Amino acid sequence: MPKKVIAIDGPAGAGKSTVARQVAKRLNYLYIDTGAMYRALTLKALKMHIPLTDWDLLTKLAQETKIELLSKNDKIIVICDGQDVSEEIRKPEVSQNVSLVALIPGVREKMVEAQRQMAKKGGVVMDGRDIATVVLPQADCKVFLTASVEERALRRYKELVEKGYQEPLDKVKEDIYRRDLLDKEREVGPLMQSPDAVLIDSTGLSIETVVEKILSLCGEGE
Ligand code: CDP
Repeated sequence: MPKKVIAIDGPAGAGKSTVARQVAKRLNYLYIDTGAMYRALTLKALKMHIPLTDWDLLTKLAQETKIELLSKNDKIIVICDGQDVSEEIRKPEVSQNVSLVALIPGVREKMVEAQRQMAKKGGVVMDGRDIATVVLPQADCKVFLTASVEERALRRYKELVEKGYQEPLDKVKEDIYRRDLLDKEREVGPLMQSPDAVLIDSTGLSIETVVEKILSLCGEGE
């Protein structure tokens, strides 16, 4: 069977990465977490104390930065300029600032180009905000995955607690809400459902149920 391209978009904390990783595993496809790329660049900019309002400098930074996504024992390893940043890119400071970096057109141009390269051979599941609309409009299967803001905040809160971060639930919810707003309102590659994407609201659904729904939508169900 020819290898397909599966695009999964949606707001923060909708469970895209968990679901996308499992869909990729079931099909023996490559999973590409595009959010991790924006996070890696944001982490680098924060470490270098670059003001996130300096779009020219951040565009230049995106052009000079090498970001690689590797798959190891079912986990995605994110390498930025040769260093493993997989854990660090998940810290709250990065989550709180990433949307400011992701709205810069020059940054997006560089990221989209790299993402298209990675998907060139097919057999990929890619998740993000603009995958079905901008990065891979020719994708075979397009899903817009969402959930209520309460559930998304709770999921993210639990993840953070597991990683040892002490963020109050209200703050996590506020951050998610603010990030979604910035992602939806930006000029280039905004978060939106592609007209040809299927909407899945995962509120109250298990990961397995969502994975099965996506597989059957893509004609790969049991
Ligand atoms: O995992 P979570 O839902 O928190 O977000 P993520 O997928 O790691 O993405 C982090 C941020 O990167 C998003 O809030 C967007 O600002 C940006 N992003 C984007 O602009 N375009 C993408 N294709 C993926 C992520």
